[in-house]
Amino acid sequence: MKQYNVGIIGATGMVGQRFATLLENHPWFNVKVLAASPRSAGQTYEEAAGSRWKMAVPMPEAMKGMKLYDATSDIEKIAEQVDFCFCAVDMKKDEIKALEEAYAKAECPIVSNNSAHRFTPDVPMVVPEINADHIEIIESQRKRLGTKRGFIAVKSNCSIQSYVPALHPLKEFGITKVLACTYQAISGAGKNFETWPEMVDNLIPFIGGEEEKSEQEPLKVWGTIENGEIVKATSPQITTQCLRVPVSDGHTAAVFVSFDKKPTKEEILKLWADFKGAPQELELPSAPKQFIHYFEEDNRPQAKLDRNLEGGMAVSAGRLREDTQYDYKFVCLSHNTLRGAAGGAVLLAELLVAKGYFD
Ligand SMILES: NC(=O)c1ccc[n+]([C@@H]2O[C@H](COP(=O)([O-])OP(=O)(O)OC[C@H]3O[C@@H](n4cnc5c(N)ncnc54)[C@H](OP(=O)(O)O)[C@@H]3O)[C@@H](O)[C@H]2O)c1
Repeated sequence: MKQYNVGIIGATGMVGQRFATLLENHPWFNVKVLAASPRSAGQTYEEAAGSRWKMAVPMPEAMKGMKLYDATSDIEKIAEQVDFCFCAVDMKKDEIKALEEAYAKAECPIVSNNSAHRFTPDVPMVVPEINADHIEIIESQRKRLGTKRGFIAVKSNCSIQSYVPALHPLKEFGITKVLACTYQAISGAGKNFETWPEMVDNLIPFIGGEEEKSEQEPLKVWGTIENGEIVKATSPQITTQCLRVPVSDGHTAAVFVSFDKKPTKEEILKLWADFKGAPQELELPSAPKQFIHYFEEDNRPQAKLDRNLEGGMAVSAGRLREDTQYDYKFVCLSHNTLRGAAGGAVLLAELLVAKGYFD
């Protein structure tokens, strides 16, 4: 298999550290460049990120001595060394938009974790099992940017990665409305209990911007390509409440759903069990073998027990039952920094490799 040289923009951050650990032994990707803010540039990865390393596994040995580039002023130098870059930075939205476009225009494709370009009409926002076909929009985006290779592809917000995969295979029954309450881990804010002690024994009923993302992003993921743009789906109606809970990793969602044509419980369980997408068909290295795992036990899925299923890339579901106001209700869980962030982006990059977008 051909090897690809990659960069991590935002390597010192929480998501960047995840990228570093996921890519350490990746069969297709070699980490060639690490970049962060001007504050870290020029230091080694160990000097800049060693004292704020948040992963359970140690910093990859081969990356410790790598000198960090300045993500904003070294774009040309970075672009000439890599086939593409992953990007996860904490900057203002318009700065991220401009930064990612500058990389794309330097012919360096960007696979992004940032939200800045999620609603740019010719930027695909991909959950690889659900809307792999949206990457075809890249040709239109390249025309707009005037590039041969460069483009931006993004993954969706972590909050929707638990419930949209469970809803997707049920679309054949005509989903009319969805209510989802999410219970989101503190790592989603780039924190752990040491850096956010106020979250111990606590719950915060607000996560800025999260409910809008949770209601709108599924409609783009379920959208269609028309005249060089992704046009958002107009249904189902989705309403959400997003809460921050004292869990280190793993976003849980409690979901209520109604249909045009109500399926049986057995039909839903069979569709979940059989659900396979492009990553499973293409046998991509980071793809979970079974995307949705259903638990019969009433007390599952649990964040602590089930978030790491299949390397944190699977979604788990449970408690499917009929409801008095909606047709059904159920609970689902996904790992927010693996499937929901860096892992989801690595899977998207693998899909882009398999479809020839980095060649
Ligand atoms: N945490 C999650 O679960 C999660 C999930 C999905 C998406 N995201 C998104 O991923 C992005 C990063 O999140 P995070 O949690 O990893 O944030 P973080 O831990 O605060 O890390 C931010 C990174 O951005 C870099 N940075 C800051 N200012 C910069 C500048 N002016 N130029 C270049 N680089 C700069 C930082 O470099 P220095 O170390 O040099 O300051 C650091 O590498 C955000 O857009 C976030 O919304 C996060």
